[in-house]
Amino acid sequence: MFGDAAGSYLGDSPSGWFIPCMTSKPTTITIKPSGSISIEGEVVLQDRDGNPIPRPPEKHPGILKLCGCGHSKTAPFCDGTHNEFKAKG
Ligand code: FES
Repeated sequence: MFGDAAGSYLGDSPSGWFIPCMTSKPTTITIKPSGSISIEGEVVLQDRDGNPIPRPPEKHPGILKLCGCGHSKTAPFCDGTHNEFKAKG
């Protein structure tokens, strides 16, 4: 069924049909205490010129992890380097 509470659509057409433009599940962004930013759901990642940024292989399919600590060697993606700083205090 289209247009349920979790979905979205552009509007009803004159014929009564509507065009779904999103999946029924919203994208979720979680800021982790470690500094990583976990994004689950559909998202387009691009540079400031609009060019797509290739994604690294996903450890957890469907979840994109971005670096929020500033220490990743694979920025803008989280590569786990934040753990080195957590261990030092
Ligand atoms: S948040 Fe993981 S490397 Fe920066």
